[in-house]
Amino acid sequence: MPLTTDRLILREMTEADLPGLRAIMQDAETMTAYEGAYSEAETVAWLDWQLANYREYGFGLWAVVLKETDTMIGQCGITWQDIDGHRVLEVGYLFNRAFWHHGYAIEAARACRDWAFTQLGACEVFAQVRDTNIASMNVAIRMGMTIRSRFTKHFRGVDMPHFAFAITREAWMLSTHNTGAWPRSTVEEDSGA
Ligand SMILES: CC(C)(COP(=O)(O)OP(=O)(O)OC[C@H]1O[C@@H](n2cnc3c(N)ncnc32)[C@H](O)[C@@H]1OP(=O)(O)O)[C@@H](O)C(=O)NCCC(=O)NCCS
Repeated sequence: MPLTTDRLILREMTEADLPGLRAIMQDAETMTAYEGAYSEAETVAWLDWQLANYREYGFGLWAVVLKETDTMIGQCGITWQDIDGHRVLEVGYLFNRAFWHHGYAIEAARACRDWAFTQLGACEVFAQVRDTNIASMNVAIRMGMTIRSRFTKHFRGVDMPHFAFAITREAWMLSTHNTGAWPRSTVEEDSGA
């Protein structure tokens, strides 16, 4: 870290990113798929979860910063998620509404997908998407993912139907002509999972 793309820098978040996080998490429209705006306590808990992820695994959702202006415009990164009892690596993405429709989310998400394959040696990378979240599905599709299953997530007291999107290492290698070289044997060995 940090991870860079043509227009973006992805780096770990700190408490100094709370204003940028609030602009995302406390906006009701942005958080539609999460059943509405987060409270201040939920926003701080979300940041604490990322800080714990960095400490425990060396990755989490990172701040997405515009190279040109040094503005924090979103979050994107890798987290461990449980999908129907399976522990999987997921690319997550949430952006400030003022920065939607510029291709920033897909630029960041593709970089994170590549990072999971090259740095973590992932066999498969997922994106879990609520069945109403078309913008998020389009990001998953643009990452080369296809739908694997439908499942229900219980979150904030609500049953939410979701799709599990994923791309395998083989499909990723075919699509990017990547060599598939990575420094460590498997994620499972590293995390003790
Ligand atoms: C999901 C989310 C990140 C997608 O954001 P987005 O702005 O639609 O995605 P991108 O930044 O990749 O932009 C893609 C759009 O920009 C357009 N675009 C403009 N310039 C572009 C460029 N240089 N490169 C690529 N696309 C570009 C694309 O055509 C595309 O338009 P379309 O969606 O009408 O087809 C956003 O909707 C969000 O933050 N939602 C709230 C949080 C959330 O639900 N997260 C997902 C949880 S599963």
